[in-house]
Amino acid sequence: MLPAALELVDSELYGSIARLGLDVEYVRARGNTMWARCADGTVRSVLDLVGGYGSLILGHNHPELVAGAKRLLDNGVPVHAQLSRRPEAAELAERLNRVIGREFGTDERYHAVLANSGAEAIEAAVKHAEFDRVARVDELTTRLRENADAARAAVADGRVRVPDSVLAALGLPVPAADPAAALDAVLAELGARNAARLAAPPCVVALVGGFHGKLVATTQLTHNVKFRTPFAALGLPARFAPVNDPAALRQVFEDERSTVLDVALVGGELALVERDFPGCCALVVEAVQGEGGIVALTAEFAKEAQAVCAEFGCPLIVDEIQSGVGRTGAFFASSHLGLQADYFTLAKSLGGGLAKISVLLVRASRYRPRFELLHSSTFAKDPFATSIALRVLDLLEADDGAAYAAAAGRGTRLAEALSSVRTDFPDVVRDVRGSGLFLGFEFQDLSGAGSKTVAQVQPAGLFGYFVSGFLLHEHDIRVLPTGSAPNTLRIQPSIDITDEEIGRVAAALRHLCSVLRDGDDAALTAFLGNRRF
Ligand code: F0G
Repeated sequence: MLPAALELVDSELYGSIARLGLDVEYVRARGNTMWARCADGTVRSVLDLVGGYGSLILGHNHPELVAGAKRLLDNGVPVHAQLSRRPEAAELAERLNRVIGREFGTDERYHAVLANSGAEAIEAAVKHAEFDRVARVDELTTRLRENADAARAAVADGRVRVPDSVLAALGLPVPAADPAAALDAVLAELGARNAARLAAPPCVVALVGGFHGKLVATTQLTHNVKFRTPFAALGLPARFAPVNDPAALRQVFEDERSTVLDVALVGGELALVERDFPGCCALVVEAVQGEGGIVALTAEFAKEAQAVCAEFGCPLIVDEIQSGVGRTGAFFASSHLGLQADYFTLAKSLGGGLAKISVLLVRASRYRPRFELLHSSTFAKDPFATSIALRVLDLLEADDGAAYAAAAGRGTRLAEALSSVRTDFPDVVRDVRGSGLFLGFEFQDLSGAGSKTVAQVQPAGLFGYFVSGFLLHEHDIRVLPTGSAPNTLRIQPSIDITDEEIGRVAAALRHLCSVLRDGDDAALTAFLGNRRF
Protein backbone atom coordinates (compact mmCIF):
# COMPACT_ATOMS: atom_id res chain seq x y z
CA MET A 1 0.00 0.00 0.00
CA LEU A 2 1.45 3.35 -1.04
CA PRO A 3 1.30 6.38 1.24
CA ALA A 4 -1.79 8.39 0.21
CA ALA A 5 0.11 11.21 -1.52
CA LEU A 6 2.10 8.78 -3.64
CA GLU A 7 -1.07 7.09 -4.80
CA LEU A 8 -2.11 10.31 -6.46
CA VAL A 9 1.18 11.06 -8.24
CA ASP A 10 2.72 8.48 -10.51
CA SER A 11 1.48 5.47 -8.57
CA GLU A 12 2.04 3.22 -11.57
CA LEU A 13 5.53 4.52 -12.20
CA TYR A 14 6.35 4.44 -8.49
CA GLY A 15 5.34 0.80 -8.32
CA SER A 16 7.71 -0.02 -11.18
CA ILE A 17 10.70 1.79 -9.75
CA ALA A 18 10.00 0.35 -6.31
CA ARG A 19 10.43 -3.17 -7.66
CA LEU A 20 13.90 -2.15 -8.86
CA GLY A 21 14.95 -0.47 -5.63
CA LEU A 22 14.87 3.01 -7.17
CA ASP A 23 12.06 4.37 -4.97
CA VAL A 24 14.48 6.38 -2.88
CA GLU A 25 13.77 9.74 -1.31
CA TYR A 26 16.47 12.35 -1.77
CA VAL A 27 16.45 15.06 0.81
CA ARG A 28 19.38 17.27 -0.13
CA ALA A 29 21.74 17.79 -3.04
CA ARG A 30 24.95 19.68 -3.69
CA GLY A 31 27.43 19.37 -6.55
CA ASN A 32 27.54 15.74 -7.64
CA THR A 33 26.22 14.50 -4.31
CA MET A 34 22.69 13.73 -3.23
CA TRP A 35 21.65 12.64 0.21
CA ALA A 36 19.10 9.84 0.41
CA ARG A 37 16.94 8.84 3.33
CA CYS A 38 17.80 5.39 4.69
CA ALA A 39 15.30 2.92 6.09
CA ASP A 40 16.44 3.80 9.64
CA GLY A 41 15.76 7.52 9.06
CA THR A 42 19.41 8.57 8.70
CA VAL A 43 20.68 10.04 5.44
CA ARG A 44 23.50 8.74 3.32
CA SER A 45 25.37 10.40 0.46
CA VAL A 46 25.10 9.14 -3.09
CA LEU A 47 27.26 10.09 -6.08
CA ASP A 48 24.85 11.39 -8.72
CA LEU A 49 25.69 10.65 -12.35
CA VAL A 50 22.18 11.34 -13.65
CA GLY A 51 22.65 15.07 -13.18
CA GLY A 52 18.98 15.94 -13.57
CA TYR A 53 18.88 14.21 -16.99
CA GLY A 54 21.66 16.53 -18.06
CA SER A 55 20.46 19.69 -16.34
CA LEU A 56 23.35 20.02 -13.94
CA ILE A 57 26.54 20.82 -15.78
CA LEU A 58 27.31 23.07 -12.80
CA GLY A 59 26.05 20.55 -10.24
CA HIS A 60 23.16 20.58 -7.80
CA ASN A 61 22.55 23.84 -5.96
CA HIS A 62 25.66 25.63 -7.13
CA PRO A 63 26.44 28.05 -4.26
CA GLU A 64 26.75 31.13 -6.47
CA LEU A 65 23.51 30.35 -8.27
CA VAL A 66 21.70 29.70 -4.99
CA ALA A 67 23.04 32.97 -3.55
CA GLY A 68 21.94 34.78 -6.72
CA ALA A 69 18.48 33.22 -6.54
CA LYS A 70 18.14 34.27 -2.89
CA ARG A 71 19.19 37.81 -3.75
CA LEU A 72 16.60 37.99 -6.49
CA LEU A 73 13.85 36.86 -4.15
CA ASP A 74 15.05 39.09 -1.29
CA ASN A 75 14.98 42.03 -3.67
CA GLY A 76 11.41 41.26 -4.68
CA VAL A 77 12.17 40.42 -8.30
CA PRO A 78 8.97 41.00 -10.32
CA VAL A 79 8.68 37.43 -11.55
CA HIS A 80 5.52 38.42 -13.40
CA ALA A 81 5.81 41.50 -15.55
CA GLN A 82 4.21 40.32 -18.78
CA LEU A 83 4.04 42.78 -21.69
CA SER A 84 6.72 45.10 -20.38
CA ARG A 85 10.41 45.67 -21.03
CA ARG A 86 12.34 42.50 -20.18
CA PRO A 87 15.99 43.58 -19.98
CA GLU A 88 17.25 40.29 -18.54
CA ALA A 89 15.72 38.32 -21.42
CA ALA A 90 17.25 40.76 -23.91
CA GLU A 91 20.65 40.47 -22.19
CA LEU A 92 20.40 36.68 -22.30
CA ALA A 93 19.68 36.78 -26.03
CA GLU A 94 22.64 39.11 -26.55
CA ARG A 95 24.98 36.88 -24.55
CA LEU A 96 23.84 33.74 -26.39
CA ASN A 97 24.46 35.56 -29.68
CA ARG A 98 28.01 36.31 -28.58
CA VAL A 99 28.56 32.62 -27.89
CA ILE A 100 27.13 31.66 -31.28
CA GLY A 101 29.36 34.24 -32.95
CA ARG A 102 32.43 32.85 -31.25
CA GLU A 103 31.71 29.14 -31.68
CA PHE A 104 30.43 29.25 -35.24
CA GLY A 105 32.48 32.18 -36.52
CA THR A 106 29.39 34.01 -37.72
CA ASP A 107 28.10 37.52 -37.28
CA GLU A 108 24.54 36.56 -38.17
CA ARG A 109 22.20 37.33 -35.28
CA TYR A 110 19.65 34.96 -33.76
CA HIS A 111 16.31 36.08 -32.32
CA ALA A 112 15.31 34.47 -29.03
CA VAL A 113 11.91 33.02 -28.20
CA LEU A 114 11.90 32.16 -24.51
CA ALA A 115 9.99 29.29 -22.97
CA ASN A 116 9.98 27.09 -19.87
CA SER A 117 10.83 23.52 -20.78
CA GLY A 118 12.73 21.67 -23.46
CA ALA A 119 9.70 20.26 -25.24
CA GLU A 120 8.13 23.70 -25.24
CA ALA A 121 11.15 25.19 -27.03
CA ILE A 122 10.96 22.45 -29.67
CA GLU A 123 7.22 23.02 -30.08
CA ALA A 124 7.97 26.73 -30.56
CA ALA A 125 10.62 25.82 -33.13
CA VAL A 126 8.29 23.60 -35.13
CA LYS A 127 5.52 26.15 -34.83
CA HIS A 128 7.79 28.94 -36.08
CA ALA A 129 9.03 26.71 -38.89
CA GLU A 130 5.46 26.01 -39.96
CA PHE A 131 4.54 29.69 -39.71
CA ASP A 132 7.49 30.41 -41.98
CA ARG A 133 6.57 27.57 -44.37
CA VAL A 134 2.98 28.76 -44.66
CA ALA A 135 4.25 32.26 -45.40
CA ARG A 136 6.48 30.81 -48.13
CA VAL A 137 3.52 28.84 -49.52
CA ASP A 138 1.55 32.11 -49.57
CA GLU A 139 4.39 33.83 -51.44
CA LEU A 140 4.39 30.96 -53.92
CA THR A 141 0.61 31.10 -54.47
CA THR A 142 0.83 34.87 -54.93
CA ARG A 143 3.48 34.30 -57.57
CA LEU A 144 1.30 31.69 -59.30
CA ARG A 145 -1.63 34.10 -59.28
CA GLU A 146 0.47 36.96 -60.62
CA ASN A 147 1.84 34.76 -63.40
CA ALA A 148 -1.68 33.63 -64.28
CA ASP A 149 -2.81 37.27 -64.43
CA ALA A 150 0.17 38.18 -66.62
CA ALA A 151 -0.62 35.26 -68.91
CA ARG A 152 -4.28 36.34 -69.16
CA ALA A 153 -3.23 39.91 -70.02
CA ALA A 154 -0.77 38.70 -72.65
CA VAL A 155 -3.38 36.41 -74.23
CA ALA A 156 -6.02 39.18 -74.14
CA ASP A 157 -3.57 41.55 -75.89
CA GLY A 158 -2.97 38.94 -78.51
CA ARG A 159 0.74 38.92 -77.64
CA VAL A 160 0.80 35.17 -77.00
CA ARG A 161 -1.28 32.06 -77.50
CA VAL A 162 -1.24 28.90 -75.43
CA PRO A 163 1.08 26.60 -77.35
CA ASP A 164 -0.45 23.29 -78.37
CA SER A 165 2.43 21.57 -76.57
CA VAL A 166 1.22 23.01 -73.23
CA LEU A 167 -2.31 21.77 -73.83
CA ALA A 168 -0.99 18.37 -74.85
CA ALA A 169 1.28 18.16 -71.79
CA LEU A 170 -1.79 18.64 -69.61
CA GLY A 171 -3.89 16.22 -71.64
CA LEU A 172 -6.27 19.00 -72.70
CA PRO A 173 -8.01 19.12 -76.10
CA VAL A 174 -6.83 21.83 -78.46
CA PRO A 175 -9.73 24.34 -78.77
CA ALA A 176 -10.37 25.61 -82.29
CA ALA A 177 -10.04 29.34 -82.13
CA ASP A 178 -10.43 30.94 -78.69
CA PRO A 179 -7.01 31.60 -77.02
CA ALA A 180 -8.63 32.95 -73.83
CA ALA A 181 -10.68 29.75 -73.45
CA ALA A 182 -7.55 27.69 -73.97
CA LEU A 183 -5.74 29.58 -71.20
CA ASP A 184 -8.76 29.25 -68.89
CA ALA A 185 -8.70 25.51 -69.45
CA VAL A 186 -4.98 25.42 -68.67
CA LEU A 187 -5.36 27.50 -65.50
CA ALA A 188 -8.30 25.39 -64.32
CA GLU A 189 -6.27 22.25 -64.83
CA LEU A 190 -3.25 23.72 -62.97
CA GLY A 191 -5.51 24.86 -60.14
CA ALA A 192 -6.94 21.37 -59.77
CA ARG A 193 -3.52 19.73 -59.90
CA ASN A 194 -1.95 22.21 -57.43
CA ALA A 195 -4.85 22.25 -54.97
CA ALA A 196 -4.05 18.91 -53.34
CA ARG A 197 -0.38 19.80 -53.06
CA LEU A 198 -1.08 23.20 -51.52
CA ALA A 199 -3.43 21.69 -48.95
CA ALA A 200 -1.21 18.74 -48.01
CA PRO A 201 0.07 18.69 -44.45
CA PRO A 202 3.76 19.51 -44.02
CA CYS A 203 6.37 16.97 -43.17
CA VAL A 204 8.92 17.26 -40.39
CA VAL A 205 12.01 15.10 -40.73
CA ALA A 206 13.57 13.73 -37.56
CA LEU A 207 16.10 11.01 -36.83
CA VAL A 208 15.81 7.42 -35.73
CA GLY A 209 16.70 7.37 -32.02
CA GLY A 210 15.92 11.05 -31.63
CA PHE A 211 14.15 12.48 -28.62
CA HIS A 212 12.62 15.94 -28.51
CA GLY A 213 10.04 15.79 -25.74
CA LYS A 214 6.65 14.41 -24.92
CA LEU A 215 4.16 17.16 -25.77
CA VAL A 216 1.62 16.77 -28.55
CA ALA A 217 3.92 17.79 -31.41
CA THR A 218 7.26 16.81 -29.94
CA THR A 219 6.10 13.32 -29.11
CA GLN A 220 5.64 12.77 -32.86
CA LEU A 221 9.29 13.76 -33.41
CA THR A 222 10.48 11.42 -30.69
CA HIS A 223 11.36 8.18 -32.40
CA ASN A 224 10.51 5.69 -29.65
CA VAL A 225 7.23 4.07 -30.75
CA LYS A 226 6.16 3.58 -27.15
CA PHE A 227 5.97 7.34 -26.62
CA ARG A 228 4.88 8.25 -30.14
CA THR A 229 2.33 5.89 -31.64
CA PRO A 230 -0.44 6.14 -29.01
CA PHE A 231 -0.76 9.80 -29.97
CA ALA A 232 -0.11 9.57 -33.70
CA ALA A 233 -3.68 10.57 -34.56
CA LEU A 234 -3.10 13.98 -32.99
CA GLY A 235 -1.04 14.92 -36.00
CA LEU A 236 2.31 16.35 -37.05
CA PRO A 237 3.41 13.89 -39.72
CA ALA A 238 7.07 13.11 -39.18
CA ARG A 239 9.48 11.04 -41.22
CA PHE A 240 12.46 9.41 -39.59
CA ALA A 241 15.84 9.13 -41.27
CA PRO A 242 18.48 6.79 -39.89
CA VAL A 243 21.12 8.61 -37.88
CA ASN A 244 24.56 9.06 -39.45
CA ASP A 245 23.47 7.80 -42.87
CA PRO A 246 23.87 10.81 -45.20
CA ALA A 247 22.52 9.03 -48.28
CA ALA A 248 19.39 7.88 -46.46
CA LEU A 249 18.76 11.39 -45.17
CA ARG A 250 19.00 12.77 -48.70
CA GLN A 251 16.64 10.04 -49.90
CA VAL A 252 13.97 11.10 -47.38
CA PHE A 253 14.13 14.63 -48.73
CA GLU A 254 14.08 13.37 -52.33
CA ASP A 255 11.00 11.27 -51.52
CA GLU A 256 9.31 14.31 -50.03
CA ARG A 257 10.28 16.60 -52.93
CA SER A 258 7.23 18.08 -54.59
CA THR A 259 6.41 20.80 -57.04
CA VAL A 260 3.51 22.90 -58.21
CA LEU A 261 2.79 23.87 -61.81
CA ASP A 262 2.92 27.43 -63.01
CA VAL A 263 2.46 29.17 -66.36
CA ALA A 264 5.08 31.75 -67.14
CA LEU A 265 6.08 33.90 -70.09
CA VAL A 266 9.44 32.48 -71.07
CA GLY A 267 11.17 34.15 -74.04
CA GLY A 268 7.86 35.64 -75.20
CA GLU A 269 6.14 32.22 -75.10
CA LEU A 270 3.75 30.77 -72.56
CA ALA A 271 5.34 27.76 -70.89
CA LEU A 272 4.59 25.33 -68.08
CA VAL A 273 7.09 25.69 -65.23
CA GLU A 274 7.50 23.40 -62.22
CA ARG A 275 8.18 25.29 -59.01
CA ASP A 276 9.56 23.67 -55.86
CA PHE A 277 6.94 23.40 -53.16
CA PRO A 278 8.09 23.76 -49.54
CA GLY A 279 6.62 20.51 -48.24
CA CYS A 280 9.19 19.92 -45.49
CA CYS A 281 8.67 22.19 -42.54
CA ALA A 282 11.94 21.35 -40.74
CA LEU A 283 14.68 18.84 -40.11
CA VAL A 284 15.27 18.34 -36.41
CA VAL A 285 18.37 16.67 -35.00
CA GLU A 286 20.26 16.44 -31.72
CA ALA A 287 23.98 17.14 -32.03
CA VAL A 288 24.45 14.20 -29.67
CA GLN A 289 21.38 12.03 -29.23
CA GLY A 290 20.78 11.73 -25.51
CA GLU A 291 17.71 9.76 -24.57
CA GLY A 292 18.28 7.55 -27.62
CA GLY A 293 21.54 6.20 -26.19
CA ILE A 294 24.25 8.92 -26.39
CA VAL A 295 24.94 8.85 -30.12
CA ALA A 296 26.94 11.72 -31.58
CA LEU A 297 26.32 12.88 -35.14
CA THR A 298 29.27 12.30 -37.45
CA ALA A 299 30.85 15.27 -39.22
CA GLU A 300 29.91 13.74 -42.57
CA PHE A 301 26.26 13.43 -41.59
CA ALA A 302 26.18 16.94 -40.13
CA LYS A 303 27.55 18.30 -43.40
CA GLU A 304 24.93 16.50 -45.44
CA ALA A 305 22.16 17.64 -43.09
CA GLN A 306 23.22 21.21 -43.67
CA ALA A 307 23.59 20.72 -47.43
CA VAL A 308 20.23 19.03 -47.86
CA CYS A 309 18.45 21.71 -45.80
CA ALA A 310 20.05 24.48 -47.85
CA GLU A 311 19.15 22.72 -51.09
CA PHE A 312 15.52 22.10 -50.11
CA GLY A 313 15.07 25.46 -48.38
CA CYS A 314 14.19 23.60 -45.20
CA PRO A 315 15.16 25.03 -41.80
CA LEU A 316 17.54 22.95 -39.71
CA ILE A 317 16.64 22.73 -36.03
CA VAL A 318 19.54 21.60 -33.86
CA ASP A 319 18.21 20.48 -30.49
CA GLU A 320 20.92 21.30 -27.96
CA ILE A 321 18.61 20.89 -24.99
CA GLN A 322 20.72 18.14 -23.51
CA SER A 323 24.01 18.37 -25.42
CA GLY A 324 24.34 22.14 -25.11
CA VAL A 325 25.32 24.57 -22.36
CA GLY A 326 28.87 23.30 -22.06
CA ARG A 327 28.38 19.59 -21.56
CA THR A 328 30.60 18.48 -24.43
CA GLY A 329 33.39 20.98 -23.88
CA ALA A 330 31.85 23.77 -25.95
CA PHE A 331 28.65 25.71 -25.33
CA PHE A 332 27.07 24.12 -28.43
CA ALA A 333 27.95 20.48 -29.15
CA SER A 334 27.11 21.22 -32.79
CA SER A 335 30.00 23.70 -32.90
CA HIS A 336 32.44 20.74 -32.82
CA LEU A 337 30.88 19.73 -36.15
CA GLY A 338 30.54 23.21 -37.63
CA LEU A 339 26.81 22.45 -37.73
CA GLN A 340 25.33 25.92 -37.61
CA ALA A 341 21.59 25.64 -37.20
CA ASP A 342 18.84 27.85 -38.50
CA TYR A 343 17.18 27.21 -35.15
CA PHE A 344 18.86 26.14 -31.91
CA THR A 345 16.99 25.00 -28.83
CA LEU A 346 18.44 25.10 -25.30
CA ALA A 347 17.00 24.16 -21.92
CA LYS A 348 18.09 21.90 -19.03
CA SER A 349 21.46 23.28 -17.78
CA LEU A 350 20.58 26.77 -19.01
CA GLY A 351 18.58 27.13 -15.79
CA GLY A 352 21.56 26.10 -13.66
CA GLY A 353 19.50 23.35 -12.08
CA LEU A 354 17.35 25.92 -10.30
CA ALA A 355 15.20 27.63 -12.91
CA LYS A 356 12.92 26.19 -15.54
CA ILE A 357 13.91 27.97 -18.69
CA SER A 358 14.34 27.16 -22.35
CA VAL A 359 15.02 29.18 -25.43
CA LEU A 360 14.56 28.89 -29.16
CA LEU A 361 17.10 30.85 -31.19
CA VAL A 362 16.14 31.63 -34.79
CA ARG A 363 18.59 32.88 -37.40
CA ALA A 364 17.69 36.48 -38.31
CA SER A 365 17.34 35.68 -42.02
CA ARG A 366 14.66 33.11 -41.20
CA TYR A 367 12.94 34.92 -38.37
CA ARG A 368 9.32 36.00 -38.80
CA PRO A 369 8.69 38.81 -36.29
CA ARG A 370 4.93 38.37 -36.52
CA PHE A 371 5.39 35.06 -34.71
CA GLU A 372 5.75 37.13 -31.52
CA LEU A 373 2.10 38.12 -31.85
CA LEU A 374 1.01 34.50 -32.02
CA HIS A 375 3.18 32.70 -29.51
CA SER A 376 3.54 33.36 -25.80
CA SER A 377 3.63 31.78 -22.39
CA THR A 378 2.77 33.19 -18.97
CA PHE A 379 6.13 32.33 -17.44
CA ALA A 380 8.44 32.89 -20.43
CA LYS A 381 11.07 35.65 -20.14
CA ASP A 382 10.57 35.96 -16.38
CA PRO A 383 13.43 37.84 -14.74
CA PHE A 384 14.02 35.17 -12.09
CA ALA A 385 14.80 32.41 -14.60
CA THR A 386 16.55 34.67 -17.11
CA SER A 387 18.77 36.18 -14.38
CA ILE A 388 19.80 32.71 -13.25
CA ALA A 389 20.54 31.76 -16.86
CA LEU A 390 22.73 34.87 -17.12
CA ARG A 391 24.64 33.74 -14.03
CA VAL A 392 25.06 30.31 -15.63
CA LEU A 393 26.61 32.01 -18.64
CA ASP A 394 28.88 34.06 -16.37
CA LEU A 395 30.10 30.88 -14.69
CA LEU A 396 30.64 29.03 -17.96
CA GLU A 397 32.36 31.89 -19.72
CA ALA A 398 34.56 32.93 -16.76
CA ASP A 399 38.35 32.51 -16.96
CA ASP A 400 38.37 32.15 -20.70
CA GLY A 401 35.89 29.31 -20.66
CA ALA A 402 37.63 27.22 -17.98
CA ALA A 403 34.32 25.40 -17.42
CA TYR A 404 34.27 24.17 -21.04
CA ALA A 405 37.85 22.97 -20.67
CA ALA A 406 36.83 21.22 -17.44
CA ALA A 407 33.92 19.47 -19.18
CA ALA A 408 36.25 18.26 -21.91
CA GLY A 409 39.06 17.28 -19.54
CA ARG A 410 36.90 15.60 -16.91
CA GLY A 411 34.97 13.91 -19.70
CA THR A 412 38.14 12.48 -21.20
CA ARG A 413 39.25 11.18 -17.81
CA LEU A 414 35.84 9.63 -17.16
CA ALA A 415 35.68 8.10 -20.64
CA GLU A 416 39.14 6.58 -20.15
CA ALA A 417 38.04 5.03 -16.86
CA LEU A 418 34.87 3.62 -18.45
CA SER A 419 36.81 2.34 -21.45
CA SER A 420 39.27 0.53 -19.21
CA VAL A 421 36.31 -1.34 -17.70
CA ARG A 422 35.22 -2.24 -21.20
CA THR A 423 38.70 -3.43 -22.08
CA ASP A 424 38.61 -5.82 -19.12
CA PHE A 425 35.00 -6.92 -19.72
CA PRO A 426 34.42 -6.90 -23.48
CA ASP A 427 31.99 -9.80 -23.04
CA VAL A 428 29.85 -7.63 -20.73
CA VAL A 429 30.36 -4.09 -22.01
CA ARG A 430 29.49 -3.42 -25.61
CA ASP A 431 30.50 0.21 -26.03
CA VAL A 432 31.57 3.38 -24.31
CA ARG A 433 30.73 6.50 -26.29
CA GLY A 434 29.87 10.14 -26.14
CA SER A 435 31.48 13.49 -25.85
CA GLY A 436 32.74 15.45 -22.82
CA LEU A 437 30.53 14.79 -19.83
CA PHE A 438 27.83 13.20 -21.96
CA LEU A 439 28.75 9.53 -21.94
CA GLY A 440 26.99 6.25 -22.59
CA PHE A 441 28.07 2.89 -21.17
CA GLU A 442 26.37 0.17 -23.15
CA PHE A 443 26.07 -3.43 -21.99
CA GLN A 444 26.05 -6.46 -24.25
CA ASP A 445 22.95 -8.52 -24.70
CA LEU A 446 23.49 -10.87 -21.77
CA SER A 447 20.07 -12.45 -21.79
CA GLY A 448 21.53 -15.82 -22.80
CA ALA A 449 24.61 -15.58 -20.59
CA GLY A 450 23.43 -17.62 -17.63
CA SER A 451 21.85 -15.24 -15.13
CA LYS A 452 18.16 -15.96 -14.67
CA THR A 453 17.59 -12.39 -13.51
CA VAL A 454 19.23 -10.88 -16.58
CA ALA A 455 17.33 -13.31 -18.80
CA GLN A 456 14.16 -11.78 -17.35
CA VAL A 457 14.99 -8.10 -17.14
CA GLN A 458 16.93 -7.58 -20.35
CA PRO A 459 14.27 -8.71 -22.85
CA ALA A 460 11.74 -6.67 -20.84
CA GLY A 461 13.81 -3.50 -21.42
CA LEU A 462 14.50 -3.17 -17.70
CA PHE A 463 18.16 -4.15 -17.58
CA GLY A 464 19.52 -0.60 -17.25
CA TYR A 465 17.09 0.16 -14.44
CA PHE A 466 17.95 -3.07 -12.68
CA VAL A 467 21.70 -2.45 -12.72
CA SER A 468 21.00 1.14 -11.63
CA GLY A 469 19.34 -0.31 -8.52
CA PHE A 470 22.38 -2.52 -7.98
CA LEU A 471 24.82 0.40 -8.25
CA LEU A 472 22.70 2.54 -5.95
CA HIS A 473 22.38 0.02 -3.15
CA GLU A 474 25.74 -1.68 -3.48
CA HIS A 475 27.88 1.38 -4.28
CA ASP A 476 25.94 4.55 -3.42
CA ILE A 477 26.04 5.59 -7.07
CA ARG A 478 22.98 7.03 -8.77
CA VAL A 479 22.81 6.31 -12.47
CA LEU A 480 20.00 5.57 -14.94
CA PRO A 481 19.74 4.15 -18.43
CA THR A 482 18.63 6.21 -21.39
CA GLY A 483 14.90 5.75 -21.90
CA SER A 484 15.03 4.47 -25.46
CA ALA A 485 18.24 2.42 -25.13
CA PRO A 486 17.71 0.52 -21.90
CA ASN A 487 21.05 -1.32 -22.04
CA THR A 488 22.93 1.98 -22.03
CA LEU A 489 23.68 3.87 -18.82
CA ARG A 490 23.75 7.64 -19.20
CA ILE A 491 26.64 9.18 -17.34
CA GLN A 492 26.47 12.94 -17.14
CA PRO A 493 27.89 14.42 -13.93
CA SER A 494 28.88 18.04 -13.41
CA ILE A 495 32.28 19.52 -14.26
CA ASP A 496 33.29 19.10 -10.62
CA ILE A 497 33.56 15.33 -10.71
CA THR A 498 36.81 14.37 -9.02
CA ASP A 499 39.41 11.73 -9.82
CA GLU A 500 38.39 9.94 -6.66
CA GLU A 501 34.74 9.86 -7.78
CA ILE A 502 35.74 8.65 -11.23
CA GLY A 503 37.72 5.88 -9.54
CA ARG A 504 34.64 4.94 -7.51
CA VAL A 505 32.53 4.75 -10.64
CA ALA A 506 35.05 2.50 -12.41
CA ALA A 507 35.39 0.22 -9.36
CA ALA A 508 31.62 -0.08 -9.00
CA LEU A 509 31.20 -0.91 -12.69
CA ARG A 510 33.96 -3.50 -12.46
CA HIS A 511 32.14 -5.14 -9.57
CA LEU A 512 28.89 -5.11 -11.52
CA CYS A 513 30.59 -6.49 -14.63
CA SER A 514 32.23 -9.34 -12.76
CA VAL A 515 28.90 -10.31 -11.16
CA LEU A 516 27.26 -10.18 -14.59
CA ARG A 517 30.08 -12.20 -16.16
CA ASP A 518 29.72 -14.85 -13.47
CA GLY A 519 25.96 -14.88 -13.88
CA ASP A 520 25.89 -14.71 -10.08
CA ASP A 521 22.19 -14.22 -9.43
CA ALA A 522 22.51 -14.20 -5.66
CA ALA A 523 25.06 -11.37 -5.77
CA LEU A 524 23.09 -9.55 -8.43
CA THR A 525 19.80 -9.52 -6.55
CA ALA A 526 21.04 -9.30 -2.96
CA PHE A 527 20.33 -5.56 -2.86
CA LEU A 528 16.60 -6.13 -3.38
CA GLY A 529 16.35 -7.99 -0.09
CA ASN A 530 18.88 -5.86 1.71
CA ARG A 531 18.13 -2.31 0.69
CA ARG A 532 20.30 0.49 1.90
CA PHE A 533 17.66 3.13 1.28
N1 F0G B 1 15.18 17.56 -26.37
C1 F0G B 1 16.13 16.76 -25.87
C2 F0G B 1 17.38 16.51 -26.65
C3 F0G B 1 15.95 16.14 -24.61
O1 F0G B 1 16.89 15.35 -24.13
C4 F0G B 1 14.76 16.40 -23.91
C5 F0G B 1 14.48 15.74 -22.65
C6 F0G B 1 13.83 17.27 -24.47
C7 F0G B 1 14.06 17.82 -25.71
C8 F0G B 1 12.57 17.60 -23.75
O2 F0G B 1 12.86 18.44 -22.68
O3 F0G B 1 11.86 17.26 -20.71
O4 F0G B 1 12.39 19.71 -20.62
O5 F0G B 1 10.52 18.88 -22.01
N2 F0G B 1 15.12 14.75 -22.24
C9 F0G B 1 14.92 13.99 -21.03
C10 F0G B 1 15.89 12.84 -21.02
C11 F0G B 1 13.53 13.62 -20.75
O6 F0G B 1 15.53 11.73 -20.61
O7 F0G B 1 17.00 13.06 -21.38
P1 F0G B 1 11.84 18.57 -21.44
